[in-house]
Amino acid sequence: MSILEILTYPDPFLKTKAARLSRVDDSIRTLIHNMIDTMYGARGIGLAATQVGADARVIVLDVPDARSEEEEPYRRGKNLVALINPEIIASSGSIVYEEGCLSLPGETADVERAANVSVKAIDKNNDPVEISAQGLFAIALQHEIDHLDGILFIDRISRLKREFIKRRLKKAKAAAL
Ligand code: NI
Repeated sequence: MSILEILTYPDPFLKTKAARLSRVDDSIRTLIHNMIDTMYGARGIGLAATQVGADARVIVLDVPDARSEEEEPYRRGKNLVALINPEIIASSGSIVYEEGCLSLPGETADVERAANVSVKAIDKNNDPVEISAQGLFAIALQHEIDHLDGILFIDRISRLKREFIKRRLKKAKAAAL
């Protein structure tokens, strides 16, 4: 297992539309394990393969329950899922949430998404899975599936805010070089 490098804006690979997988093999299972390590290492609640430079429709998520962070220390692994070829097959409602992204360090913005989604995918054993999600889990699923289509949360906010965040990220990256 190893920690992978997380690509950050404006890395052009983040705009890639990732390839569907015909089946999950050991190399994909290794990628999944490394993505999980990388997600936890970065204290994220979700990660898409596109963010670690892999051209594959794979996402991992471990979204805390609504109240668990306040009531008890968040238990890592409790809600862990790895989904291959995830597809939103139904959605309803709308919800606005202040999102962040490991590929856009330090930036957040209010994003409107569906409040409820059903997602179908296959798991790491090639078995079909279907998930119904609400709230933060639904938001995170949409955010990660977006990554597989080369879409960042800043692509879903007003142009003015997007350009402001892009400028700030480019400046931060230039300063770090
Ligand atoms: Ni993200």
